Amino acid sequence: MLCLGIETSCDETAAAVVGDGTRLLSNVVASQVELHRRYGGVFPELASRRHIEAMLPVLGEAMRMAGAGWEDLGLIAVTRGPGLVGSLLVGLAAAKALAFALDVPLVGVNHILGHIYANLLDPVLRDPARGEGPGGSVFPAVCLVVSGGHTDLVYMQGHGRLNLLGRTRDDAAGEAFDKVARLLGLPYPGGPALERLARQGDPEAVPFPRAMMDDGSYDFSFSGLKTAVAVYLEREGGAARAADVAASFQKAVVDVLVAKTVRAALQRGVRRILLAGGVAANSALRESLRREAGRHGLEVRVPPPALCTDNAAMIACAGYFLWREGGADGLDLDAVPRLGLAGALGREQ
Ligand code: KG4
Ligand code: ZN
Repeated sequence: MLCLGIETSCDETAAAVVGDGTRLLSNVVASQVELHRRYGGVFPELASRRHIEAMLPVLGEAMRMAGAGWEDLGLIAVTRGPGLVGSLLVGLAAAKALAFALDVPLVGVNHILGHIYANLLDPVLRDPARGEGPGGSVFPAVCLVVSGGHTDLVYMQGHGRLNLLGRTRDDAAGEAFDKVARLLGLPYPGGPALERLARQGDPEAVPFPRAMMDDGSYDFSFSGLKTAVAVYLEREGGAARAADVAASFQKAVVDVLVAKTVRAALQRGVRRILLAGGVAANSALRESLRREAGRHGLEVRVPPPALCTDNAAMIACAGYFLWREGGADGLDLDAVPRLGLAGALGREQ
């Protein structure tokens, strides 16, 4: 069964076609990074307008790449939140129009849950031979979702069945990367640029704080770290080596994320960790999590980088399984800019 996914929660206009929840047939992402670069972040009104312009070409390209006709679609999945309301509404309007015109079911997807489901897409499935087939034995798992807007640690027992273990109390991990990159004079978006610079630096050079590391909770805090970097740069001035600062900052973020995620998996007694979200593209995080988890015999799954950042394939995948579990949504489905994970099934629980 073919599901068309649509994602417009922030600054990427994306559409994808996925077969039976896991088979990736096409994945088209029109990035607005160039448009927003001069503002150093996403400019919401410009983002909505660009989504409107990009929507039809992106949809057409996703269908063409999948070799599918509109009549082949059996389900439309769309991000309903969290995100920028104007941007979300463009995707929702397109999804509802298609569902109505084609007379196929519509399902709303929580963007954060979508990131987790990127781990179920076919190119990611490690070992189909061991029965890890379409959406098979992925759960139970502890999932770390780290993106520009979110840092959530989630325990997932099954499709749409989840408990939020902890979250950031202030800045998201990706936001911290972006802000520190800005302090270092790196271009927007800062995460990838900071990672490149950090490769030339010494991660032990500056002892930045690891907030809430040993407090026993699964919550995070990154705004103090950002301030510590700003204070250090101010104090050291020209003597600060940017590459060392980048590497030390990155290590401080990674250490806390990895320690709490591994602790959560051990405490819940699960054997599998799913990493997700834009910051999951960071190789220092991927490698450190694999190493620490490996020491405890835990398996780590991470989507390939293109499926870590915002895309619609993850929305189509999540939408398919949520629809199978909980059925379709009505055409009155609305955008919820601050949607929490409790509403992950597409309806309040
Ligand atoms: O998931 P995503 O594409 O959008 C949101 O839902 O927020 O994540 C974007 C975030 C940005 O903060 C970006 O700087 C960060 O992910 N990011 C990275 C890397 N690639 C993207 N952070 C660190 N290292 C990277 N390689
Ligand atoms: Zn995202």
